[in-house]
Amino acid sequence: MSPSTLADRFAALFGATPTIVAAPGRVNLIGEHTDYNDGFVMPCAIDFTARIAIAPRNDKRLVLHSGEFPEHFDFPLDRLPEKPVHAWCDNLVGVAHMLRAEGIPLSGASLLLHSKVPIGAGLSSSAAVEVGTALALLAVSQRSLPLPRVAQLAQRAENTFINAQVGIMDPFVSCLGEAGHALQLDCRSLTFDSVPLPPQLRLVICNTMVKHKHAGGEYNLRRKECEEGVELLKRWYPNITALRDVSPADLEAHSANLPKIIRDRCTHIVRENDRVLAFGRALRGADLPALAKLMRESHASLRDLYQVSCRELDQMVELAEHLPGFRGCRMTGGGFGGCTINLIEAPLAETFAAEIAAAYRQKTGVRPDVYICSATRGAHVETADPSKP
Ligand code: GLA
Repeated sequence: MSPSTLADRFAALFGATPTIVAAPGRVNLIGEHTDYNDGFVMPCAIDFTARIAIAPRNDKRLVLHSGEFPEHFDFPLDRLPEKPVHAWCDNLVGVAHMLRAEGIPLSGASLLLHSKVPIGAGLSSSAAVEVGTALALLAVSQRSLPLPRVAQLAQRAENTFINAQVGIMDPFVSCLGEAGHALQLDCRSLTFDSVPLPPQLRLVICNTMVKHKHAGGEYNLRRKECEEGVELLKRWYPNITALRDVSPADLEAHSANLPKIIRDRCTHIVRENDRVLAFGRALRGADLPALAKLMRESHASLRDLYQVSCRELDQMVELAEHLPGFRGCRMTGGGFGGCTINLIEAPLAETFAAEIAAAYRQKTGVRPDVYICSATRGAHVETADPSKP
């Protein structure tokens, strides 16, 4: 929905002219499950956006409507739910709590959310909504925060309110993505570099349509296994605090002393960190064969060592390799379903999309959604309220 249509809907609902904030979803090119190990990631913000229209109210209430869900919510600001109510408002309420904990006095507001980011596809619909909500609430409260801080608050809303122990990658790239670029992020220091994508490639995202119900539990389990790896490795490397501090050679030297599962998880993480750095070099040098090789290795490692792929993701990856324009492919995001990311030669993107959809349907009986995307800019205010100076 365009910003002006959203503004019209908002005006019809609340009789006011809104400020509109747009926050994108993301796709990760490489660097999977490394963010919560203080490692490196390489995501892009994509042109699937959550838009939030907001205007202040003077009755100290937070009134929330959605373009996608019928329920709406009306909370007194001083009595926001302290726990998730298991509805779409949870991500927004969580962010309101985090802003308040940050010392931002909230104003009453009417808010209308309209999100185009597919839900449950691993393209960070939650992070987009959280980042958008944070910027929208800051705008009506006439406050601002640095974008990396906004990303941290969105992450904290997930960690402490929603109780999902996710890393910083998704909200960070939703805040700081740049059009036509991937963002190479160091998840420990939060320093980053925007790396131009080769203009001859398009990002083609293939949705297996599998939503894994237990993904949250498995995700938290992987985190624990990584922490256990760090504890065990401290015996030889007492100064490490995360797998980020362990090189592939360090791990190799003692891997025989680790239980197999822990060894496999750690091996994925330490090599995946190296792959992100190599991928960054390959992008900068437009070394397309190296990109494809690194993505293939990443997928195999996620499948065999980290064990977060699933049959449908593996099938989607295998089908892609033989199709026109193929330049690299792997599963993307947390795993157990969701999407693959494919680098495809731009003139062949439509052909690739049609052929992979047909091939996947023939193989699985399921019609996949295939999205041809561009890397887009991070969250921003799209229109200012004209009544304000
Ligand atoms: C999910 C989480 C991210 C990251 C990825 C895996 O998307 O939200 O923080 O851990 O999984 O790379």
